Amino acid sequence: LRIFVPYETTALSLGAEDVATLIRREADARGLDIELVRNGSRGLCWLEPLVEVDDGRGRRAFGPVAPEDVASLFEHGFGDDHPLAQGPTEEIPYLKRQQRVTFARIGVTDPVSLADYRALGGFDGLEKAVHRTPQQLVDMVKASGLRGRGGAAFPTGIKWQTVLDAKGAQKYIVCNADEGDSGTFADRLVMESDPYMLIEGMIIAGLAVGATQGYIYLREEYPLAHELLNTAIERARAAGYLGQDILGCGRAFELEVRLGAGAYICGEETSLLESLEGKRGMVRAKPPLPAIVGLFGQPTVVNNVLSFAAVPSILSEGPEHYASFGVDRSKGTLPFQLAGNLKRGGLVELAFGHRLRELIEDFGGGTESGRPVRAVQVGGPLGAYLAPEQFDTPLDYEAFAAIGAVLGHGGVVVFDESVNMAEQARFSMEFCVEESCGKCTPCRIGAVRGVEVIDRIVANDQREANLALLEELCDTMMQGSLCAMGGMTPFPVKSALQYFPEDFHRQGGEG
Ligand code: NAI
Ligand code: SF4
Repeated sequence: LRIFVPYETTALSLGAEDVATLIRREADARGLDIELVRNGSRGLCWLEPLVEVDDGRGRRAFGPVAPEDVASLFEHGFGDDHPLAQGPTEEIPYLKRQQRVTFARIGVTDPVSLADYRALGGFDGLEKAVHRTPQQLVDMVKASGLRGRGGAAFPTGIKWQTVLDAKGAQKYIVCNADEGDSGTFADRLVMESDPYMLIEGMIIAGLAVGATQGYIYLREEYPLAHELLNTAIERARAAGYLGQDILGCGRAFELEVRLGAGAYICGEETSLLESLEGKRGMVRAKPPLPAIVGLFGQPTVVNNVLSFAAVPSILSEGPEHYASFGVDRSKGTLPFQLAGNLKRGGLVELAFGHRLRELIEDFGGGTESGRPVRAVQVGGPLGAYLAPEQFDTPLDYEAFAAIGAVLGHGGVVVFDESVNMAEQARFSMEFCVEESCGKCTPCRIGAVRGVEVIDRIVANDQREANLALLEELCDTMMQGSLCAMGGMTPFPVKSALQYFPEDFHRQGGEG
């Protein structure tokens, strides 16, 4: 009997360690011979800790399992009559309805087992890549249609081409793992539940552009990802996937993890590079692009975790397979992360083109509170708030841009009708005050003034004049800021004003 208990942050924070200890103890007490596997998480956060059992007939799931449920699971013989039984794991509708491409292995395997990784197609992409020329690799990524999954959606193949064509004594591959968007956890899931996939994607990127050194810039708040990545890197190196002669092909690639120190702005690629160089995380003006003048002044690929994670399957399955998912210019899949006031929060990987309503209702099951959904923020703290009349907008980059919104990194945070959107708008400005690097005036000063103006509007102090001022301030920030921090903070503010104007009135005031 194999029993799987996730070793992943969400599950652990909900008691998975105690559950694992009790399962071992209970099995010993009953004289049962079990193999306890610490797998990653399937991303069904609402069922964590999700315990799976395989008695040779396939994996069946139980969740959410609390320590006090362990004894009764044994008493029921892990049968389908247990109240926590979810049936065969792959048949859980939340999982079955997904189109898992990048996340296909997530939660299935022991994250640091090289044998598990290889058994499910891991390193097949790299084994193909070592027989290709750099230009062929770049062409494959271009043909896949992959666009930067950090949020900006710039075509990954074109970025790689720029680095391949740039002249430099040393080129670098940098992974942005500073996942700072509110409600997002897809990068963490990759690093904690399938770290070799990221490592493999970065090695392929190195071969494609001629870079021999990679860095993963990881947010300090992810200690488990840190531990698992370091173990995976060590094992990959010992097995010949990293080092001076990758798989005997004569080309080199080395990889290290570097920790950030908690600044949101260090997720912006140029501040990230400053921070990696040991300096304070301040935004650099672009141009020059990091692809040409990046880390230590050298040509550098900076991509998000999810962009690198998509690469191994593009190589192993072929770019056409990846491009067969999605719509128009939004090819492939996006791992959406459902959070906020929802019954079923979790990771939902879908091809582009589905509707937000499906995510909220079919997957999320509506609000946890049972009240109607009032607003949804898509794309992190710099993303617009959407109102229910927009929930049928197709989830693709261009359709979202057309309504003044972004898909960003795929974060979906749901609010019920108790939300006050003026408070949310104020929070966006406050967040910018807190996290601005201070380099440019529209952001550094504009956000402070933004908080004050919203306070005056809500207090009905010269309301019309201040509303006009807020609009003007938002336009100045959008047009005059050096980076997305100041440039996008107005998105949530303007959308709150446009779709929820009633919240900017204080009852009984001058109006
Ligand atoms: P950007 O549009 O300036 O650049 C996108 C990427 O393409 C960059 O790596 C840039 O260097 C590269 N690029 C642009 N033109 C190029 C060319 N001609 N050749 C080669 N490379 C080129 O966007 P930025 O400022 O990097 O990112 C903003 C986005 O970040 C926002 O849309 C937001 O959604 C997202 N974001 C994500 C967060 C997260 O936690 N994942 C947090 C905050 C923001
Ligand atoms: Fe810094 Fe804000 Fe200007 Fe970006 S917009 S460079 S965070 S001050």
